[in-house]
Order: sequence, then structure tokens, then C-alpha cells
Amino acid sequence: MSDLTGLRALVTGASSGIGAAIARDLAARGVHLVLTARRRDALDGVAGEVSAHGVRTDVIPADLGTAAAARVLWLTASATGPIDILVNNAGFGYFRAFSAVERTRDLELVQLNITSLVELSRLFVDAHAGKPSRGYLLNIASIGAYQSVPNMALYAASKAFVRNFTEGLHDELRGTALSATCVCPGGTRTAFHAAAGAGNYSWIANASMMSAESVANASVRAMIGGKRTMIPGLVNKLSCFGVRLVPRAVASWLARRVLGTPMRELPARTVA
Ligand SMILES: NC(=O)c1ccc[n+]([C@@H]2O[C@H](COP(=O)([O-])OP(=O)(O)OC[C@H]3O[C@@H](n4cnc5c(N)ncnc54)[C@H](OP(=O)(O)O)[C@@H]3O)[C@@H](O)[C@H]2O)c1
Repeated sequence: MSDLTGLRALVTGASSGIGAAIARDLAARGVHLVLTARRRDALDGVAGEVSAHGVRTDVIPADLGTAAAARVLWLTASATGPIDILVNNAGFGYFRAFSAVERTRDLELVQLNITSLVELSRLFVDAHAGKPSRGYLLNIASIGAYQSVPNMALYAASKAFVRNFTEGLHDELRGTALSATCVCPGGTRTAFHAAAGAGNYSWIANASMMSAESVANASVRAMIGGKRTMIPGLVNKLSCFGVRLVPRAVASWLARRVLGTPMRELPARTVA
């Protein structure tokens, strides 16, 4: 058993993909869970899966793409016990030219990927101020944080925000009982791509895809180790290192080649 046993984690975006895999990984380490996302049935499914580990799991459906939802979520989650681990994982992107997407989707993206993440981080840090007990903040960014990405301009910019914010926070928190870790996954096999209207990728993007389980496990290990930033997978590490060596316009051109063209259909942003 790891030293996380008995702690309690709030995991956003826990209904599928990387968030559900992080929830499973934490439960296997004896961590009690608060699972949140929009789809209650999917959250209940994850809660049922982790029940075998004997941890207490609370499910709180919330739409973090709307203002005020993060605060209500935090108050509801912390009313039944302290939150020792905050995993800000919920996020989405669309793979389309900025001009081809309606403004409401931009606003939801900024609210979910940035504003709600900041708000939850603020509430978490404030709740731990001056306390000696260990606390962990884990924010999920993307390798898109390392460069501009055509057809994902706003998404990549939101992840650059998450990376810079979390790394700055990590340095501020040095020497305290809190740590902040930023994880920058590359392509991961989840529902993200279909929802984004993406997936017409080059062979290298497909070949370097990782499973949600391996990304989740590497993320939790980085968090336990109090790491500042972690990029899962060798190809992803090399790509993030490589973009520093070429002009930014070249990196952007390469991203366009690797990610291919948008799929014809951009699914509606509705809860299934
Ligand atoms: N997959 C990749 O290749 C990849 C690469 C780099 C970074 N990431 C990042 O990894 C994180 C997890 O994505 P994923 O790949 O696991 O995709 P996913 O399977 O689509 O999971 C996204 C999660 O976010 C939740 N979510 C979406 N909109 C929400 C909203 N408005 N309010 C609350 N929750 C919402 C979804 O649940 P509901 O639909 O139930 O709300 C779901 O649980 C995201 O931040 C993503 O940007 C993914």
C-alpha cells in the first residue's frame, strides 16, 4: 500500500478516459473518492467498479463548463470530509478552425479548461493554508501546452495556461505540505478525439497513442513524487523537447501535419 491510504480525492472528469483511470488507480491505493463529471450514470459505473477496493466513493454530477459550478461542487464535496487530493482532469477541445466554431463552445472551453480549474485550485489551496497535513494538486494539461496547434488553437492555449499556472504554483508551494503537479499527456485512447471531431491522424500520432491506464498510473506516480511536470511516454517527451529546438512556426506546421484534417462531423456538446 502507498502512503495515500485513507486520503480523499476529488477527481473531475471521472466519468471516462484518463479521469476514470486515475480514479481506479487511486482507489487501488486505498484513496476515498469524490467523482464528478456531467453524466451521473457513467460516474455511478466507475463508482461501482472501484467499490471492490473498499473505499468510500461519493458521486457529485456537475457541469464545470458553467460559471459557479466549481464553487458549488467544492462546497458539496468538502461538506462530507476534507479533500486531500484534487485532480483537475475534466477538459475538452474541438479540432476545427477557430472561425468554424460557434462562440458558445469557446466560452465553455475556457470555463471548463481554465476558469473552473483555477477556481477549484484556489479553494483547495485556501483550504490547506497553514495546515501540516499533506495535500496534492494534480492538473492535467497536454503536450499541446508546449506549442501552438492549428485547428486546436484555443485548446492548446488553454493547456499552455494550465501548464504555466501549475508550474508557477509548484514553485510557490515549495517547502509547504502542498504540492502541485502538471501532467502533459500526448495522444491517449479515450473519447476525447471523437468528441473533438478529430482522429484523421498521421501514422506517428496513431503509433504513439497511449492507454488511459498507463497515463493515469504515470500521473499518480508523478503526483506522489511531488514532480513539477511530467510528460507520459518517450515519443511525447522527445516531441516536447524537440519543439524547443525549432522555430515556433515550424513546430506549428509540424503539428498540422501530424494531426491531419478535421473529421466532417463536429459532435454537439451535449451530455449523452
Ligand atoms: N485523450 C487525449 O489524447 C488527451 C491528450 C492530452 C490531454 N488530454 C486531457 O486529458 C483530460 C481528460 O480527457 P480524456 O482524454 O480522458 O477525454 P474524455 O474521455 O472525453 O474525458 C473527458 C472528461 O471530462 C468530462 N467533462 C467534459 N465536459 C465537462 C463539463 N462541462 N463539466 C464537467 N465535466 C466535463 C467528461 O465527462 P462528462 O461527459 O460526463 O461530463 C469526461 O469525464 C482532458 O483535460 C484532456 O484535455 C487528453
